[in-house]
Amino acid sequence: MSATTTATTTGSAAPLTFPVRPSAAPVAAERRAEILAAPGFGRFFTDHMAVATWTRGTGWHDAAVVPYGPLQLDPAAAVLHYAQEVFEGLKAYRHADGSVWTFRPRANAARMARSARRLALPELGEDAFLEAVTQLVRTDEAWVPSGGESSLYLRPFMVATEAFLGVRAAHEVKFLVIASPAGSYFPGGVKPVSIWLSQNYTRASLGGTGSAKCGGNYAASLVAQEEAGAHGCDQVCFLDAAEQRYVEELGGMNLYFVHDDGSIVTPELTGTILEGITRASIVELAADLGHEVRERRVSIDEWREGVASGRITEVFACGTAAAVTPVGKLVSADGELSHGTGQAGEVTLAIRERLLDIQYGRAEDTHGWLHRLV
Ligand code: PLP
Ligand code: COI
Repeated sequence: MSATTTATTTGSAAPLTFPVRPSAAPVAAERRAEILAAPGFGRFFTDHMAVATWTRGTGWHDAAVVPYGPLQLDPAAAVLHYAQEVFEGLKAYRHADGSVWTFRPRANAARMARSARRLALPELGEDAFLEAVTQLVRTDEAWVPSGGESSLYLRPFMVATEAFLGVRAAHEVKFLVIASPAGSYFPGGVKPVSIWLSQNYTRASLGGTGSAKCGGNYAASLVAQEEAGAHGCDQVCFLDAAEQRYVEELGGMNLYFVHDDGSIVTPELTGTILEGITRASIVELAADLGHEVRERRVSIDEWREGVASGRITEVFACGTAAAVTPVGKLVSADGELSHGTGQAGEVTLAIRERLLDIQYGRAEDTHGWLHRLV
């Protein structure tokens, strides 16, 4: 690492704390204001990052919030060769009174622990995960935008740093959290997105890493995303690997189908789909709004026939980065299928509004999902 860290905890029993070593050269306030006025997604980073090191035998130690900067990695670091890596994505939201909150962070911490187990990485406790996020956001609070649907996107991740080319779980690992101010994930705002159906590539198979949030899944999805782009589409949809028949998810979002009787359906978790926290929240929010919610398999034929017959009235995608986004059309080698009027549907918009109202503190948080950071 370019920035040295102070040892805080050497045993696994003591809680991991993240003392702050402030940057001597933070971004100037005027430049920061310029960035926050139009942050885009994932292009700019705050002045600090949280870091911690794990070594076999010692456990987690050397945790701190340090100046943001490049990592120094040995060229033999395991992550560069065998992709032993997992990550998370969550957001900090500024409320109208200036306070800053995050949404279900313990669910992200728990998912990261599950992903880590699958990738043979060490688990970081939920408290340490939350402490890292909290200390980083408190340190870089000035970077949390306000207004519109802006937020500070938080990216916790864990990488195998041990310099060793043998194929086994690394004995040295780093955990980091970086933060990036974010506007809308799709530059078009709430406009319906177009989906390319991938029939050449699958994302995950049973026993694989589909339900883990690991970089390798995204690396494997990029060629399909390129194919989507080449066909003028915003996102790619993957089918199950075994039969190429059941709808799984998009490259970075889960899917929902709204039916003409008001019920809504999302593909069930089969072990190959990412267990989205937005997806799980919508299961509860849609029920609050009076919808019957079902988690079950949805075939690609059901999607096509349902839209064509009017039985499926709306399709939307959901995830932390993109929130709730309407799907406007499905494109594949077999042709194009337009959904609805080309505008966001009523149910999609109601669910979107309910979720964002909770996240931005405009509606009562009846499920106790918000966690105050500042
Ligand atoms: N599916 C994939 C492949 C993702 O990358 C994401 C984004 O994190 C999601 C679904 C949605 O998950 P969440 O709602 O937890 O952000
Ligand atoms: C998220 O929604 O947090 C994601 O991780 C999706 C994508 C940016 C990878």
